Amino acid sequence: MSVPYLGNKQKIASTLVEFISTREKSKTIADLMCGGMSVSAEFINHGFNVIANDINKYVVALEKQVIEQGIPKEYYDWVSSDKFKDVVVNPDNYEPHYTGYVLTIWSFGNSMDYYLFGLDKEDAKRAAHEIVVNGDWSLIDDITNHLFTEDLKYIASMFDMNQRRLALNKWGKDVEKSSKDILDKDMLEDLKRLQLEPLTRIQQLERLQQLSGLQDINTNNLTVSNKDYKDVELPEDCIVYCDIPYRRDRTHYKTPFNHDEFYEWVREIGKTHPVYISEYEMPDEFELVLELEKRSLINTNRNERKVNTSDVERLFYYFDKK
Ligand SMILES: C[S@@+](CC[C@H](N)C(=O)[O-])C[C@H]1O[C@@H](n2cnc3c(N)ncnc32)[C@H](O)[C@@H]1O
Repeated sequence: MSVPYLGNKQKIASTLVEFISTREKSKTIADLMCGGMSVSAEFINHGFNVIANDINKYVVALEKQVIEQGIPKEYYDWVSSDKFKDVVVNPDNYEPHYTGYVLTIWSFGNSMDYYLFGLDKEDAKRAAHEIVVNGDWSLIDDITNHLFTEDLKYIASMFDMNQRRLALNKWGKDVEKSSKDILDKDMLEDLKRLQLEPLTRIQQLERLQQLSGLQDINTNNLTVSNKDYKDVELPEDCIVYCDIPYRRDRTHYKTPFNHDEFYEWVREIGKTHPVYISEYEMPDEFELVLELEKRSLINTNRNERKVNTSDVERLFYYFDKK
């Protein structure tokens, strides 16, 4: 239950949250670079009061939209590559939540830059989208010689969207499996044109389903804001969690991030609040307290730092209570 988001911590969120909650007495946390909110959502599930903040106004608007009002009907409409490009170039011509929706749900690898599908697949993907979302099979005829129309018409006539999605997925897999034995040359030609993968995986709907989980969040324990991390007001007993853009990566989520300035800020705020930071490397006075290597969990201390590898997630800690 989070926004499918670049650098999201969905896979390790529960381990992170359990780790922090065993070390801290406070039940208030500020997730200052919350991104897709996977960590915030997990803290809420563990009974924390959460201040979720991010500087990306589109993503925050999307989260507020879904949490407060659910998924709007327009999120089920097809977004073409041309529309996507227009949103990338003119993000402020649209409502901020819609821009956030298009940039996250419809981008390749959640990059917020590149369209989800290659141009050669767009027609087939759209046809599949229309079957599943609107029960409309008519676009299939534009890309095939009608050999599979009856099957797809039948799937399109099914009652609900989820049923249609699962049926299309199963149909695609069945056809794929049987293709060598029972399909003739024309059918194989047709399948090539149709492309099975677009019909069996409707990524944008899978992502939408993940996003819709945000509706179930307990909002009594949540405050969402869109500020620079330094401007968020921190309650006295609050734990701070910072999932910063990694220093060694080039991806800086559109907003440049000054790591040295951030270290200085932690040194200051860490006089009154315990601070946890997700990063690969930090200056020496930040203590490495948790290392997650693939699926295994290794607790470390300062002298046991390991060689950097990309499948290691690390958590640092700073609290200078004098
Ligand atoms: C690694 S991502 C966070 C991912 C998030 N934990 C999740 O699970 O989806 C880093 C986030 O830092 C945010 N960010 C960058 N600079 C910021 C700033 N100065 N203040 C607040 N947030 C910032 C980016 O917008 C981005 O969403």
